[in-house]
Amino acid sequence: MKILLLGSGGREHALAWKISQSEKCEKLYIAPGNAGTAATGENVNVKADDFPAIRDFVIEKGIDMVVVGPEDPLVKGIYDYFKADDSLSSVPVIGPSKAGAKLEGSKDFAKEFMLRHSIPTARYKTFDSSTIEEGKAFLRTLQAPYVLKADGLCAGKGVLILPTLDEAERELEEMLGGMFGSASSKVVIEEFLSGIECSVFVLTDGKDYKILPEAKDYKRIGEGDTGLNTGGMGSVSPVPFATEEWMSKVEERIIRPTVAGLAEEGIDYRGFIFFGLINVDGEPKVIEYNVRMGDPETETVMLRLKSDIVDLFEGVATRSLGNRTVEFDSRSAVCVMLVSGGYPGSYAKGYKIEGLDKVEGSVVFHAGTALKDGDIVTNGGRVIAVSSYGNDKAEALQKSFDEARKITFKDCYFRRDIGADL
Ligand code: AMP
Ligand code: GLY
Repeated sequence: MKILLLGSGGREHALAWKISQSEKCEKLYIAPGNAGTAATGENVNVKADDFPAIRDFVIEKGIDMVVVGPEDPLVKGIYDYFKADDSLSSVPVIGPSKAGAKLEGSKDFAKEFMLRHSIPTARYKTFDSSTIEEGKAFLRTLQAPYVLKADGLCAGKGVLILPTLDEAERELEEMLGGMFGSASSKVVIEEFLSGIECSVFVLTDGKDYKILPEAKDYKRIGEGDTGLNTGGMGSVSPVPFATEEWMSKVEERIIRPTVAGLAEEGIDYRGFIFFGLINVDGEPKVIEYNVRMGDPETETVMLRLKSDIVDLFEGVATRSLGNRTVEFDSRSAVCVMLVSGGYPGSYAKGYKIEGLDKVEGSVVFHAGTALKDGDIVTNGGRVIAVSSYGNDKAEALQKSFDEARKITFKDCYFRRDIGADL
């Protein structure tokens, strides 16, 4: 099978790594990819949301399957674009339709969906510029801290957690006044939930689903979960509190009603569902849905997925996922992310990365890297993920930290406390 994978981050390198191991994959292209994906397949100079260029490439190369890494092309409707085009409609797209992608593309849609299907989540209400006063009144019914969410996609920056009512009211005005452009023309205000988060991933063909290994990610830049939010500083799988009992609650109360709800509402959904969960006194609740794999969770989940991912994708495409099996590696997997100094604020790019060839026994996934005059250089805030197995979490972490120290670039930083809270 000739497969085209869309995207360019650490998640895509991890997916490419896994896809390229499949006997069913004859040729893998990654658009646009990065310096790391170039070692697992062939990078193509096409942007992940340039639909006409993707169309031409798929036809020219006779691509048999398109796997979508990031949310952007999904929210923009790449699935529907393929379905509507006679020369593309027979090529399966692994990812939901535009209607399904609203689970991530609109927080308000996601909350209403959960309400309709009795899926446990934080109490909430949605407001727009004509209902600011009602929004402030709703804030006064809640306890601090206050959670405000821009309805639309904001590259992970659309959620504000405010310690005081004053700040919450002020930020509500700012958001509805266009702080995130049209993405914050509606704002979801919700109850703050306190607990540890866990990311649960499912692959579905719209009828059946398979649960993949769960993971926990570390979002803050600073050790001890302090400082600004980032795209993810590391991840750990499995998650100790995701016991069989907890996961069966997740499946009964959250996964099953979500997949059934999508089908019931006639929403075409063939792809990943990422349940961003929080454990509140032993009870799982949904913080958010994403319609793709997580980053940097994929960099550990792919290590723990033993089954052939292309076989699973085939099951999704032909709606025969129920006949396929998913096997997990019982070992632990962790990922430590090396980032550019200054990130998530401003940082420099183009620094030469050295020592990659010295890494032994860990898997190195590239996030923000590029090839320049034969060198691999930094090309983003999050640069390299060092993923490792271990018989337990501690062993895997030791391995990742040891190997991470062999990789050097100017102003490199990583958190040394990944997994320490679990
Ligand atoms: P989201 O973009 O919805 O994932 O939100 C970003 C982060 O904000 C989440 O990963 C949580 O850490 C936090 N968060 C979102 N909603 C809530 C909530 N209702 N209670 C507590 N924390 C939240
Ligand atoms: N790790 C969180 C995300 O991918 O959104």
